[in-house]
Amino acid sequence: MSLSKNSVLLSEKEIQEKVCELAGTISADYEGRELLLIAVMKGALVFVADLMRKIKLPLELDFMAVSSYGSTTKTSGVVRILKDLDANIEGKHVLVVEDIIDTGLTLNYLLRNLKSRQPASLEICALMCKEKKQKVPVSVKYLGFTIPDIFVVGYGLDFGQRYRNLSDILIVESEFGLQ
Ligand code: PRP
Repeated sequence: MSLSKNSVLLSEKEIQEKVCELAGTISADYEGRELLLIAVMKGALVFVADLMRKIKLPLELDFMAVSSYGSTTKTSGVVRILKDLDANIEGKHVLVVEDIIDTGLTLNYLLRNLKSRQPASLEICALMCKEKKQKVPVSVKYLGFTIPDIFVVGYGLDFGQRYRNLSDILIVESEFGLQ
């Protein structure tokens, strides 16, 4: 596995411009409503930190951490909640913030789970979505980038828990070619 300057998929500048654009749209859409951002840890940490500071509305922030039950059961779409929300979301305008959508199974499960808690509204903001990879449909209201089916790191995304601190999003290349 290697990372090089040539493998930048999205530069810090491109990401920051997109974050400003998304935050502007969200600020306009939620004007007059109490917004609650729910960041899905750990990947969404950097994205939500930047996004929330560009949203020009009063808002609340909460976190969830989830993990799939293991590769063999990944297709079942059942995820384990490692950290649940601190507060009740009933009657709140909830915007789930994710770094990347791959199969869509994590968000599909999370949305069903959150919906049962009766928020006033429930939408998704995702920085990236992999093209043609979803096994289940996920309706994303605010999407940053559609990317090919490649393995990426940086800006919150990891490889073996490393590289989350990179400001750009890089393509991970292996000795066997692009992953
Ligand atoms: C990543 C990402 C999403 C999920 C998307 O999290 O942050 O939560 O995978 O995959 P899916 O659409 O196939 O369900 P990951 O499990 O890598 O954990 P992390 O956020 O802690 O890095």
